[in-house]
Amino acid sequence: MSEAPEVATDTWSPADIPDQAGRTALVTGTTLGGLGHHTALELARRGARVVLAGRSEEKLAATAAAIRSEVPAAAPEQLHVDVASLSSVRRAAADAARLGPIDVLVNNAGVMAPPYSRTEDGLELQLATNHLGPFLLTGLLLPQLVASGAGTVVTVSSVMHRVARSAPLGDPRAEQPGRYRRWQVYAQTKLANLLFTYELDRRARAAAVPVKALAAHPGLAGTHLAANGQFGRATGGAATILNAAVRAVSQPAARGAWPTLMAATADLPGATYCGPGGLQEVSGPPRVVSSSQLSHDEDAQRRLWELSERVTGIRYP
Ligand SMILES: NC(=O)c1ccc[n+]([C@@H]2O[C@H](COP(=O)([O-])OP(=O)(O)OC[C@H]3O[C@@H](n4cnc5c(N)ncnc54)[C@H](OP(=O)(O)O)[C@@H]3O)[C@@H](O)[C@H]2O)c1
Repeated sequence: MSEAPEVATDTWSPADIPDQAGRTALVTGTTLGGLGHHTALELARRGARVVLAGRSEEKLAATAAAIRSEVPAAAPEQLHVDVASLSSVRRAAADAARLGPIDVLVNNAGVMAPPYSRTEDGLELQLATNHLGPFLLTGLLLPQLVASGAGTVVTVSSVMHRVARSAPLGDPRAEQPGRYRRWQVYAQTKLANLLFTYELDRRARAAAVPVKALAAHPGLAGTHLAANGQFGRATGGAATILNAAVRAVSQPAARGAWPTLMAATADLPGATYCGPGGLQEVSGPPRVVSSSQLSHDEDAQRRLWELSERVTGIRYP
């Protein structure tokens, strides 16, 4: 963090979100009941034009309907994107040109610890979904973030980033099913979210690009994340049971979205990381938090950036 925050971050709540009228916010991974849904809902409540981005038209429509029922004045828009597919991200970014300037991009979509698989691009699924797709999407939307005059990119990380023993700097196309450790890989992707955020913020400042990058994490929030990862679906049978178990020990998803909302709307400098202020950052009102020493390794930040450029075929800023 480069300077002291100008807001009383230990008492932040959604009541502190400034009027968002005239602002456009694009949030990925907005499935009903998840963090993205609640992030978009609160931004819409404060008057933002929200764009719900996800891989299922049906789920996007369900979230749009839920937001409209709570905020009748809102008119959520939808953007179809599978962030695990580089061609889908490129198509979505082309489609997003119709949106005009984008004030806030929230890279929220993610998967946690699924069995080993590779995407159509030959990339390991977790790294593709949680980092490489968002890296490409952010780069392609950068001109629209710049056009807003002061774009903000918030990427959703996790306390799990601390579990990563190293940055994910290996070839993501290399065969590795036998060596795949699903939780370690998840932790590495969440570390990647922070390495990406700090590097993007520094590069944007060096290039005098009017975009800042921040990160947030929700602590432990009752969403579909665990079921999605374990069973490849959010509801039904064992997935429903796992969801209920997670909810019993977590803060509600709505509260889990608060650190993201704070990062997206408070007057904070780039490279700030927001998370719950309670014990072990598991729950509680959001505040500025710290991240691991590894996340501040500038060599790892640069190498991950260059690897991501090579794999996705985009160079920015
Ligand atoms: N919940 C927690 O306690 C917790 C803790 C730390 C960090 N996080 C982070 O918070 C973020 C949101 O997760 P959540 O807890 O709200 O879980 P969630 O309810 O499962 O939401 C994840 C969202 O990502 C979407 N998604 C997954 N793969 C995608 C793809 N290839 N393309 C487009 N969208 C995709 C999902 O869409 P589908 O419905 O189509 O699968 C869903 O909308 C994730 O980045 C996660 O790592 C969560």
